[in-house]
Amino acid sequence: MGPTTTVALVVVAALLCCTEGFIGMNWGRMSAQRLLPSQVVDLMLQNGIRNVRISTTQSDILRAFQGSGINLSITLFNGNQPHNMSTARAWLQSKYHLLRVNNIESVHMGGGVYPFNWGGIFVPDYDVNWRGLNYVQAALNETGFGGKIKANIVHYSGELIPNITKPSDAAFLDNIKERMTEFLRFLRDNDAPFLVDFNPITDLERCGLDLSFAFPDNKSKLVINDINGAVYTNGFQWQYDCFVWALQKLNFSDIKIDVMTVGWPTDGYPGATSLNAERYFKYLLPMVISNQGTPKRPGVPINTFINSLADEPKMRTDVISPFNRHWGIYRSNGQPKFKIDLSGQGRDIYPTTMKGIMRMPQRWCVFSGNSTDTDKVRRQVERACAKGDCTTLAPAASCSNLGFGKNASYAFNVYFQTYFQDEKSCDFEGLSYITDQDPSTEDCLFPVEVVRGNQLIEFSAALALLWPLNIRGVVLLIVLYILGGFL
Ligand SMILES: *[C@@H]1O[C@H](CO)[C@@H](O)[C@H](O)[C@H]1NC(C)=O
Ligand SMILES: *[C@@H]1O[C@H](CO)[C@@H](O)[C@H](O)[C@H]1NC(C)=O
Ligand SMILES: *[C@@H]1O[C@H](CO)[C@@H](O)[C@H](O)[C@H]1NC(C)=O
Ligand SMILES: *[C@@H]1O[C@H](CO)[C@@H](O)[C@H](O)[C@H]1NC(C)=O
Ligand SMILES: *[C@@H]1O[C@H](CO)[C@@H](O)[C@H](O)[C@H]1NC(C)=O
Ligand SMILES: *[C@@H]1O[C@H](CO)[C@@H](O)[C@H](O)[C@H]1NC(C)=O
Ligand SMILES: *[C@@H]1O[C@H](CO)[C@@H](O)[C@H](O)[C@H]1NC(C)=O
Ligand SMILES: *[C@@H]1O[C@H](CO)[C@@H](O)[C@H](O)[C@H]1NC(C)=O
Repeated sequence: MGPTTTVALVVVAALLCCTEGFIGMNWGRMSAQRLLPSQVVDLMLQNGIRNVRISTTQSDILRAFQGSGINLSITLFNGNQPHNMSTARAWLQSKYHLLRVNNIESVHMGGGVYPFNWGGIFVPDYDVNWRGLNYVQAALNETGFGGKIKANIVHYSGELIPNITKPSDAAFLDNIKERMTEFLRFLRDNDAPFLVDFNPITDLERCGLDLSFAFPDNKSKLVINDINGAVYTNGFQWQYDCFVWALQKLNFSDIKIDVMTVGWPTDGYPGATSLNAERYFKYLLPMVISNQGTPKRPGVPINTFINSLADEPKMRTDVISPFNRHWGIYRSNGQPKFKIDLSGQGRDIYPTTMKGIMRMPQRWCVFSGNSTDTDKVRRQVERACAKGDCTTLAPAASCSNLGFGKNASYAFNVYFQTYFQDEKSCDFEGLSYITDQDPSTEDCLFPVEVVRGNQLIEFSAALALLWPLNIRGVVLLIVLYILGGFL
């Protein structure tokens, strides 16, 4: 490394450093049973997580985080971005109290939409997000929130040129450079960071890099040497520096970068297993906490949000792959899938189990085994999979080797569980029955649902309205006794 580079590195480090990097958590709600916000807040506090990203600005959720000391990144989801200054002001007024009492760090425009990906399927959203961004930040400025809450848009690797090996070769795609420059100027004016989502498995694949390179445990066969003596032994630092280089090439080296999503799906894709997820986080999180930075930004802390808290079986898979339903550290029933030390010390421990989760009875809906009319069975499987989550049946997923009959059972059961074990939903034209014999195999778990969080709230609210206090107490005790039997 030459003296000029060293000086440049020190200057950049001095500009960007000062605080410690943190481990945050993504919490999405595309699941049937919908965890109660208070359960999630409790879980975050138990696990020492103090930064959470949510894909909503819903008031009941913001209210649950109030006073928790947890900092939030919130999202004006698709369709909710303001189209003019008056809607931006109206939105802000409606949330004014909650924005004041919570620590909101950023408000993101759009969710799961990468507005700069012109070749992609979500093309028209750029203008909506860009204008929304400006209106919201202007409204925040007007009310004095501007210094604290930053409007922003999250980016991803699809905006970089593909098939590069060295970070120094990275650059934003030619057709988005102009708008990216305009966007980066906005970030600089508002003193906001560049936010990016990482998906190690597919991002490395996009550049033809070996999967072993993803893991930050120094065991990769692949080691990438770049200019100025930079050495890359893992995909995280490599990818981070690809963005550092891309920003530098547009003359925005001063912009801080936060990783808003990084995780490892446990099903639905080659390499997507709990074992790999465990290995990935075991080495990633200590690296984040150590504030070692990257070869291009040594010593610069990297705020990193884990993707994600729990599986989301209702995530759409028509435009995104099946693995998107399997990002969770927890299954949708609140059980941790693998060991992960959320404090970043790399210990072999499970995260705290979710409190207040009530399981439905151990029963499953399965195929009768009558294969006289295989077309009929297939049609029923298709019907079940249109509503239930069958992504674990996809090629290379955990239940891809079941064979015809078990495959049908799997489909029927997810449908049944999606409808919270309603007997009427185990009706596939005489091809199914309900059983208490667990049909799971060694590799493939047949899920059992948990009692839906929102249902519980509605239920106790109804009780509160209908009965005087003393009777209500007795009824609640009976209900709890019955539910307790299911645990
Ligand atoms: C939360 O945000 C406040 C500023 O709004 C900051 O002082 C504090 O350090 C943040 N906490 C964490 C855990 O990031
Ligand atoms: C602002 O946008 C909203 C909703 O898109 C629309 O109903 C309203 O008329 C617009 N207001 C102005 C002043 O353009
Ligand atoms: C918000 O305020 C900051 C600081 O005064 C300013 O630089 C920025 O341009 C403002 N943003 C908008 C969108 O008005
Ligand atoms: C990357 O290169 C390979 C061959 O070298 C090619 O098949 C693939 O399409 C390229 N990927 C992209 C995204 O351009
Ligand atoms: C990998 O190697 C780097 C550089 O020698 C070192 O700082 C880091 O602690 C190592 N990580 C592990 C998990 O061994
Ligand atoms: C970045 O700055 C350099 C030096 O001022 C200049 O030569 C170059 O054209 C700039 N690049 C861009 C993309 O603006
Ligand atoms: C098996 O399915 C066929 C076609 O649906 C049906 O006609 C037949 O009665 C079924 N057999 C039994 C034993 O249920
Ligand atoms: C199992 O069901 C899925 C979803 O309908 C289907 O794609 C797959 O081909 C089936 N596999 C077998 C062995 O029937």
